[in-house]
Amino acid sequence: MPHIHPTDIYLTRSDKEAYLHQNAKVIWITGLSGSGKSTLASGLEQALAERGFFTQVLDGDNIRSGVNNNLGFTEEDRTENIRRIAEVNKLFLNCGIITINAFISPTNNIRHMAREIIGTEDFVEIFVDAPIELCIQRDPKGLYKKALDGKIKNFTGIDAPFDIPDDADLTINTGDLSIEEGIKKALKYIIEHVNKD
Ligand code: ADX
Repeated sequence: MPHIHPTDIYLTRSDKEAYLHQNAKVIWITGLSGSGKSTLASGLEQALAERGFFTQVLDGDNIRSGVNNNLGFTEEDRTENIRRIAEVNKLFLNCGIITINAFISPTNNIRHMAREIIGTEDFVEIFVDAPIELCIQRDPKGLYKKALDGKIKNFTGIDAPFDIPDDADLTINTGDLSIEEGIKKALKYIIEHVNKD
């Protein structure tokens, strides 16, 4: 890129990881709307904080209302949504921070793009698996009802695709596990990646 010169004059990622006593990682939670992504993200953040880890949760609330407030739900916009989010994750990684992402990120193409931007060694993918019937039944935001009534178009799982992840490191089935069991299972897996000792 012209006139942009990356420099090495700043503190490095490993300086910051040493300061924070942790290995930075990107936790990428994918799943249908209403599958339990945000609940898992919030529970994980709490559990990691109790163990002294420093985290940042990224989700639709803090991303789609700000940096991505010009994007909708076409395939093109969802791709751009996740591309920018992946770039934001890279900044947090270089800051030594563990980021926990809760985005539908509906297709394998989109998730592969995120993994590629972030780097596979720093990318931990968790599939929050809940049957669509259960998500429709939960419908915490009333959006499935609207989608089924034809009032929202391109709704994931109704008239827009969701691919079963082909690259997930871990699957949490929120239909079978309690919230606490799901958090425990994810924590057990993640802690080995973020622990410095
Ligand atoms: S993604 O597909 O681009 O990854 P993202 O996770 O940012 O989606 O946003 C999903 C949230 O936006 C849903 O939980 C829901 O609250 C809201 N939403 C609004 N319209 C749609 C839609 N057409 N499809 C899916 N989610 C939608």
